[in-house]
Amino acid sequence: MDKSLTTLLFSCTLLISLCVPSLAQTCGNYTFSGNRSYSTCNDLPQLSCSLHWNYHPSNLTADIAFRKSGASTSNWISWALNPSGQEMAGSQALVAYQHPNGSILAYTTQLNKNPNMQPGRLIFDVPSIAAEFSSNGDMIIFATLQLTDSLRSTNQIWQEGPMNGGNPGEHPTEGQNGKSMGTVDFIDGSVTTTGGTTSKQRKRNVHGVLNAVSWGILMPVGIIIARYLKVFKSAGPAWFYLHVTCQTSGYAVGVAGWATGIKLGSDSPGISYETHRNLGMIIFALGTLQVLALLLRPKPDHKYRLYWNIYHHTIGYTTVILSIANIFEGFEVLDSEDNWKKAYTGVLIFLVVVAAVMEAVTWFIVIKRKKAASSDKHVNGENVYGSRAQQTA
Ligand SMILES: *[C@@H]1O[C@H](CO)[C@@H](O)[C@H](O)[C@H]1NC(C)=O
Ligand SMILES: *[C@@H]1O[C@H](CO)[C@@H](O)[C@H](O)[C@H]1NC(C)=O
Ligand SMILES: *[C@@H]1O[C@H](CO)[C@@H](O)[C@H](O)[C@H]1NC(C)=O
Ligand SMILES: *[C@@H]1O[C@H](CO)[C@@H](O)[C@H](O)[C@H]1NC(C)=O
Repeated sequence: MDKSLTTLLFSCTLLISLCVPSLAQTCGNYTFSGNRSYSTCNDLPQLSCSLHWNYHPSNLTADIAFRKSGASTSNWISWALNPSGQEMAGSQALVAYQHPNGSILAYTTQLNKNPNMQPGRLIFDVPSIAAEFSSNGDMIIFATLQLTDSLRSTNQIWQEGPMNGGNPGEHPTEGQNGKSMGTVDFIDGSVTTTGGTTSKQRKRNVHGVLNAVSWGILMPVGIIIARYLKVFKSAGPAWFYLHVTCQTSGYAVGVAGWATGIKLGSDSPGISYETHRNLGMIIFALGTLQVLALLLRPKPDHKYRLYWNIYHHTIGYTTVILSIANIFEGFEVLDSEDNWKKAYTGVLIFLVVVAAVMEAVTWFIVIKRKKAASSDKHVNGENVYGSRAQQTA
């Protein structure tokens, strides 16, 4: 079991990593208007942006161009340095948008937790700033930054959001907008894209992986084992122990996943995902009932055993169906990239195919045994399908 679990986890990891797209650098080919050219550029991983610059070590200035390709005239764009962290508060931002009179405005502003986006000075000088909307649909901010030693390598954040009554409005916080941050090093020319995993996103990912692996993979695998392995008489009672191992380890990991969900919920008081949360509660309750039911299981020949079986199967299937639904509900909350969803859907399709094949094989074996049994008068009417289950479980 340990070995197959490792294999399972390994294949999931592999599947997920295969789905993560590799990023090809394309910013280097871009030609700016007005004979501007930049020696360094980096594609930023979110919101189709790129940062281009020339750094002058003699006077610590950087001439930069921040470009959003496929920009909309009804959106504002912004790029910021934030020496205090990878977050909005404390950002030293450059902002640009199209004024209703058609001209593209660009200015600087410092952001706090509830920014008003009104023009203001930054903690460093910005001797020049301008913006344009290029003929091929890109919005670009050009600026010269007077850096300091500590600002030559620091955090950068970029954003895009809708205009609201002539002023920059609130931007979305989910999806790419929630991940558009990282670091920039003006000297060595690199950017890192740590923006994919802020600590909150890391916590969400941990929550997702724990729950997808436990409720979404181990439990269905345990059900498949219980349903199909017992038909192979040569496997003996192994199915029962495998089933119990799968479900209990699934439950243990699942409780951890559930707890991370409760923590995530209490960490973000303003945000609630009602459906996801309520389903999570129901699933946890049903899962716990299953574990308790295991302890109250009547002996195989007990007259109530049939009812226990019906109860156990009903709750079991319900739990797994609700779990799968809630995992997809969780993907909607993440709503950033589809890779997790694709990977899990892949695993699910694999499990369904396995179950379908096993179902066919089971029927084949059962029918064959029935035929053999009916031609053998000594063994008439034995329930081949369930007999071993009754002996062991
Ligand atoms: C730049 O453009 C050339 C010619 O169009 C193309 O062959 C090359 O792959 C492009 N490079 C990048 C990094 O996109
Ligand atoms: C761009 O550079 C070329 C040659 O160096 C020059 O002829 C042209 O006037 C420049 N254009 C602008 C807009 O500065
Ligand atoms: C900084 O130095 C560069 C190159 O040495 C020069 O082109 C630029 O004008 C200088 N910038 C300022 C603000 O002094
Ligand atoms: C548009 O409005 C802005 C802000 O009021 C002003 O700075 C700019 O000059 C105007 N542009 C045109 C073309 O009228």
